[in-house]
Amino acid sequence: MGYRIAVVGATGNVGREMLNILHERTFPVDEIVALASRRSLGTEVSFGDTTLKTKDLETFDFTGWDIALFAVGSEATKTYAPKAAKAGCVVIDNSSLYRYDADVPLIVPEVNAQAIHGYSKKNIIANPNCSTAQMVVALKPLHDRARIKRVVVSTYQSVSGAGKEGIDELWDQTKSIYNPTDSKPPKKFTKQIAFNVIPHIDVFLDDGSTKEEWKMVAETKKILDPKIKVTATCVRVPVFVGHSESINIEFEDFLDEHEARDILRESPGIMVIDKREDGGYVTPIECVGDYATFISRIRQDSTIDNGLNLWCVSDNLRKGAALNAVQIAEVLGRECLKKG
Ligand SMILES: NC(=O)c1ccc[n+]([C@@H]2O[C@H](COP(=O)([O-])OP(=O)(O)OC[C@H]3O[C@@H](n4cnc5c(N)ncnc54)[C@H](OP(=O)(O)O)[C@@H]3O)[C@@H](O)[C@H]2O)c1
Repeated sequence: MGYRIAVVGATGNVGREMLNILHERTFPVDEIVALASRRSLGTEVSFGDTTLKTKDLETFDFTGWDIALFAVGSEATKTYAPKAAKAGCVVIDNSSLYRYDADVPLIVPEVNAQAIHGYSKKNIIANPNCSTAQMVVALKPLHDRARIKRVVVSTYQSVSGAGKEGIDELWDQTKSIYNPTDSKPPKKFTKQIAFNVIPHIDVFLDDGSTKEEWKMVAETKKILDPKIKVTATCVRVPVFVGHSESINIEFEDFLDEHEARDILRESPGIMVIDKREDGGYVTPIECVGDYATFISRIRQDSTIDNGLNLWCVSDNLRKGAALNAVQIAEVLGRECLKKG
């Protein structure tokens, strides 16, 4: 006996990847439904060899459905996630709405799978921000060995992190650069994204940081350890899929770069590609469609006593969203719902 699964936001970038990943990982599905807004009623999406016709989220009854994987943004989540949860369907949500709620577990299975049991307070589990997910996968095994004090991270985030409109804007603007009569001014982003980089993701906060940067700080504390200090600079770059991060880590104890490389090689969800030669590292294009968080450029930071630098790349639509959500569903099934 398997699960009745609802994919909410099935016509979006993350929703489509959720359908792909549920099929790839042969998640025990008895029945699956694709939901989106009324605009997409009847739109066809693929689930393996099967084609699903998208249904209207607004009129859908979640009674009798086991798990709803939500990828619709905070506004629609606010309306529909409580309805699903109240109907007895466990919500695994990709928006930021519930991430900081003390009654909702925020989970990256490689790091804090044990938090799953907290789901029953609201019948909701939160998925972290894409930049946080890949970073904590990399930090966890190093923290276990040498206790992390402080992290300085700069991100290089792809446009797919801003949804379908982000992808379209980079594509259209790139073409328009070669055809100046067809100018495409910024709409989704605050400045031109084609052939440019923008040090601004989400809204500005009073202290001069952005909400995206704040999310990395708050989520790392909730998932990994509240004592870890994080300072982040989040930057949008003209890459379609795949987020990259330059991470500087200060530890309590000394950690040699060779030992760090060995630890990371043995850790779940991580692939180390780290040769000190031309091309001996991973770039975002190479991580697309993969499950792993790739780590390269591991090296000592000789400006402090116990410091390391590394480069971390992952598919933001997968580990940063859809894969992590499906992994949570797997843990939920194994540890709590016990069907399949
Ligand atoms: N992209 C990433 O890297 C990433 C990472 C982590 C988390 N997330 C989060 O995941 C969510 C989805 O992101 P995305 O990149 O997949 O966005 P997207 O490509 O723009 O897709 C949005 C999806 O939400 C649906 N939707 C929007 N408003 C709705 C409403 N009122 N009722 C029903 N359905 C509605 C859309 O349906 P229609 O097609 O019918 O409009 C579409 O299926 C967001 O909360 C985002 O913050 C994204």
